[in-house]
Amino acid sequence: MKVIGISGSPRPEGNTTLLVKEALKVIENEGIDVEFISLANKELNPCIGCNLCKEEGKCPIIDDVEEILEKMKEADGIILGSPVYFGGVSAQLKMLMDRSRPLRIGFQLKNKVGGAIAVGASRNGGQETTIQQIHNFFLIHASIVVGDSDPTAHYGGTGVGKSPEDCKNDTIGLETARNLGKKVAEVVKLINKK
Ligand SMILES: Cc1cc2nc3c(=O)[nH]c(=O)nc-3n(C[C@H](O)[C@H](O)[C@H](O)COP(=O)(O)O)c2cc1C
Repeated sequence: MKVIGISGSPRPEGNTTLLVKEALKVIENEGIDVEFISLANKELNPCIGCNLCKEEGKCPIIDDVEEILEKMKEADGIILGSPVYFGGVSAQLKMLMDRSRPLRIGFQLKNKVGGAIAVGASRNGGQETTIQQIHNFFLIHASIVVGDSDPTAHYGGTGVGKSPEDCKNDTIGLETARNLGKKVAEVVKLINKK
């Protein structure tokens, strides 16, 4: 069993990285393999709508996206984290989401457990709208969307922070990210129980 956590922030050591890693720690403690991926230093390009993926099952753009998609295919669970940018996901994460379209052929992310984390500078800066966007991504891939487990039990990890590492002191952000990790681990184990 394996869960990957992806930070869509261009800041490699920012708040999103911090909370995604926090969720992964909980999952690792449950005996599940984890891998963290930051999009910060990856070469990512936007989808150009050529539709070749629908005809050939593969994207013609050569960059780091294919390697990340391979890891998403192999995982049992995927956590996507993003800073809130104008109430939605970062451009980096959106590029990965759009470029994942080849995986919809044969629904290769079907029944993988998907969870979301969002960090904004303001308390009500769009964490929930950003998480909704990530949930939509998982739903459109026929994945299984989960939120944070009890006792917080809402939409996923919701952080408040401005400067990198502010979330070290963000009690609610840390707690919801950890509970998201708990829920992802619970459902990954359920699915793998034969
Ligand atoms: C282009 C841009 C747009 C942003 N838009 C929002 C926003 O809509 N709401 C919000 O609360 N914070 C917004 N922020 C602040 C970031 O979400 C915040 O600093 C967050 O901690 C960044 O996460 P990171 O440390 O993982 O990079 C924005 C920041 C940038 C650079």
